[in-house]
Amino acid sequence: MKSVFSAANANTSADVPTPSDAASTCWRVAVLDALRECDPVAKADAVRALHAQSQAQASAPRWEPQLGIPTPAGLPGRPADPPLVEPRELQRRSMSTPQGRVVLLHALAHIEFNAINLALDAVWRFPAMPDAFYADWLKVAAEEAYHFSLLRARLADYGHVYGDFPAHNGLWEMCERTSADVLARMALVPRVLEARGLDASPPIRARLKQAGDDESAAILDIILRDEVGHVRIGNHWFRYLCESRGLDPHAAWLALAEQYHAPRMRGPFNFEARRSAGFDEAELDTLAAQDATDQAAAKKSTERHSNE
Ligand SMILES: [Fe+2]
Ligand SMILES: [Fe+2]
Repeated sequence: MKSVFSAANANTSADVPTPSDAASTCWRVAVLDALRECDPVAKADAVRALHAQSQAQASAPRWEPQLGIPTPAGLPGRPADPPLVEPRELQRRSMSTPQGRVVLLHALAHIEFNAINLALDAVWRFPAMPDAFYADWLKVAAEEAYHFSLLRARLADYGHVYGDFPAHNGLWEMCERTSADVLARMALVPRVLEARGLDASPPIRARLKQAGDDESAAILDIILRDEVGHVRIGNHWFRYLCESRGLDPHAAWLALAEQYHAPRMRGPFNFEARRSAGFDEAELDTLAAQDATDQAAAKKSTERHSNE
């Protein structure tokens, strides 16, 4: 069988700047090639094949942590469709209609496509991390590729393909904002954006079930199971980096959330999933207090409107 590693390198190695010979065998460069791939199916296949090869007994991935890889233009590789628009321009429809469910499934497929890119970006971009960091994020990328393939197949059941509806670019924007610091990346992407998926998943799943779409609901089950692992990986590396820089994780988190304008987290929170994903009790208590405050404010506002 042809090496996936050389296959992933073959298309683009000519135009990827290679600072040394190490780059020609560096798995992080192969991962960057997958990130640059524009075709979503080819990207997903390349990522899953790379991960499978990294798991093979005979291969010991050469991550070359010492290698700083220059940033190529045009990241990430993505198809011409879907067009990217402002979030407020996206349509919202009831999930009780097939069209509404298609729009939802498409939005989820877009999240997973972005999630592949986010995980790949963590692998190639940040030097000087332990091998386990790169292996973890390649594993995450492979699982995101699996999620994308499940949703793509489900969209096909409804007669649609990824690219049929507009989408927004919020996830990749956070990736770019945190591209200069691996600690900020770990703080803001897995611990905020992916963790938000843990909260969002159960209510979406319930509405799909209610609408009788058991197959889509089953995909949500797989995604939630895996996403707990992704957030756990994010928490692990966030704490590792805090420890190695002599930072208190809670104080570091507050400072980074402010510096990088983390989106405000809103309940209801999936405390059970967040606990399994490695958030500690102090972090969960903070979220619970915030949720209680938000709910009290919402209740007051409803009462005020009903008295007007
Ligand atoms: Fe995912
Ligand atoms: Fe994920």
